[in-house]
Amino acid sequence: MRTGQNKAKKFKLSAYEQRINAHRIDPRTMKITWRDIAGLEEVINELKKKMIFPVLNRHLFRESRLLQPPKGVLLYGPPGCGKTLIAKATAKEAGFAFINLKMSTLTHRWYGESQKLTAAMFSLATKLAPTIIFIDEIDALLRSRSSSDHEVTAMMKAQFMTLWDGLETDHQCQVIIMGATNRPEDIDPAILRRMPTKIHIKLPNFEQRKQILRLILENERVDPLIDLSHIARETEGFSGSDLKEICRKAVLLCVRDIIPSDILSDDCIRPINQDDLQKATMKMKESKSLDEALDLPFTASLVWH
Ligand SMILES: Nc1ncnc2c1ncn2[C@@H]1O[C@H](COP(=O)(O)OP(=O)(O)O)[C@@H](O)[C@H]1O
Ligand SMILES: [Mg+2]
Repeated sequence: MRTGQNKAKKFKLSAYEQRINAHRIDPRTMKITWRDIAGLEEVINELKKKMIFPVLNRHLFRESRLLQPPKGVLLYGPPGCGKTLIAKATAKEAGFAFINLKMSTLTHRWYGESQKLTAAMFSLATKLAPTIIFIDEIDALLRSRSSSDHEVTAMMKAQFMTLWDGLETDHQCQVIIMGATNRPEDIDPAILRRMPTKIHIKLPNFEQRKQILRLILENERVDPLIDLSHIARETEGFSGSDLKEICRKAVLLCVRDIIPSDILSDDCIRPINQDDLQKATMKMKESKSLDEALDLPFTASLVWH
């Protein structure tokens, strides 16, 4: 398949398209694959079936309007649970061009600028197709409406939706907008309607936490007696990124034990043991309860059901 990189060279890009193009990631240089995501097989299978398969096999579905990939996919759920990982791996595994944007990249103080950037995003994506436009914090499209630049944002939003609808009517156009949010309740229903595939990425359950811990520790030196089930049981309510932080803290405990010298041999850092993971979990629990006490932005209660 021709990659976005080659196509971007092939097409002449406008100045605004070039600005959007700076947010493009070449799938060949992306490192995240399905293998780097633990415990989300169901989500991955759904994306393969609904998005990747119809795009890669469009010759089978040319006549069908019903079997086209969705023009919008929403990934929602608490932070640190794999939304960005999933989006990147989807582009990587399918070989789609991937434009990674935040809504704030498009919302400019001057309407003229916002309008040109938004139009450029859609035109660039169409040139590079098949393309995933990944919009992190897609809820910002609505949230910013209440601020002083109300009118500019409202106009930009209207334009955004018109261009999005244009994708819907052009059946040959293979551009998919993938949005991610921690705050689905803030998204305008008009936008939600344009994202028929909604995927809830929840906090990992016990089994998923075990799988995530196993994956994170896969390439580390660990004590063979380590009991990941115990840690998984202790970490109810923790996200994938919390688990990664626990493992990072545990490795630091091993490193702390070494006496610095100029040349260290390979085995001078002892393997991670149960006690390290246990201590790291305790530390993480303390810092999470401090976050909650300070009422930092996200708590699990914001998850949408
Ligand atoms: N299911 C998972 N499998 C492996 N690692 C995970 C998983 N979920 C989260 N992580 C870890 O947490 C980090 C943050 O995940 P990310 O996808 O950015 O979360 P989100 O976009 O939902 O906020 C990842 O880079 C990864 O290290
Ligand atoms: Mg993210």
